[in-house]
Amino acid sequence: MKAEQAHVHADRRYLVTGGGSGIGRATVLTLAARGARVAVADIDTDAAHQVAKEAGTNALPVALDVGDRASWTSAAATVEDQLGGLDGLVNNAGITRDRSMARMSDEEWGQVLDVHLRGAWLGCQVMAPLVTAADGGAIVNLSSSGRYGTFGQTNYSAAKAGVVGLTRTVAVELASRGVRCNAVAPGAVDTPMIGTVPDSVRQKWLDTITLGRLAAPGEIANVIAFLLSPEASYITAQVIDVTGGELHL
Ligand SMILES: NC(=O)c1ccc[n+]([C@@H]2O[C@H](COP(=O)([O-])OP(=O)(O)OC[C@H]3O[C@@H](n4cnc5c(N)ncnc54)[C@H](O)[C@@H]3O)[C@@H](O)[C@H]2O)c1
Repeated sequence: MKAEQAHVHADRRYLVTGGGSGIGRATVLTLAARGARVAVADIDTDAAHQVAKEAGTNALPVALDVGDRASWTSAAATVEDQLGGLDGLVNNAGITRDRSMARMSDEEWGQVLDVHLRGAWLGCQVMAPLVTAADGGAIVNLSSSGRYGTFGQTNYSAAKAGVVGLTRTVAVELASRGVRCNAVAPGAVDTPMIGTVPDSVRQKWLDTITLGRLAAPGEIANVIAFLLSPEASYITAQVIDVTGGELHL
């Protein structure tokens, strides 16, 4: 009888920011179901605990504000202590503060740039030394099809376009250590982040999506999990669009 093969993620160690909701939660559950140990890092500690519980014994809730360096340093110490290092990092945490450019405040601009762009930069900088997988390991950053420009999202579009430049540069800087870095750029995903979007706007989105529906969070998580795995060993510095075929770009 053929011996059962262990899953590529078995016993690997990951940290997912924004793991308490939406795409982050789906990523945690996907990786944990495949045998990985996952740090569920979120500013919403109740949500992190809840998702870690759902994921089972392989998950560890971690309090983290991605825009805060001290918070990253403390998360890194927890990860080193509890997991002994990382095989991969997912910079996924996100917020929106949508408003037309004319009305947007400095605060709304700053909050979004801080979480998405500075947060991902800090994550790469502070956590990269802990990524010590035998195959080098991998980082996945969340960009968005919104990086091409969407009404009311000067802050978000700029941050998500910035994530592309960050990703490609981190890939170049960490290549000699064998660490790969890629971005996943979803289109519209059915998560709490888009919960307040009016039906009329959702319909406009649907009109441009070839598959005619929003993504389920797990459909993004599958791509993130692939990029984290050794099966993606020759993919780095790329942006993978997962949009159901958005045609308005
Ligand atoms: N939902 C979409 O349509 C969509 C499309 C493209 C890209 N994205 C990106 O995917 C990522 C996940 O989005 P989602 O839809 O799952 O959102 P979500 O709102 O469901 O979850 C975001 C999570 O991030 C956490 N978070 C917010 N600020 C944080 C901080 N400072 N530190 C740590 N955690 C923080 C929240 O508590 C929450 O658990 C985001 O980067 C988002 O921009 C989402």
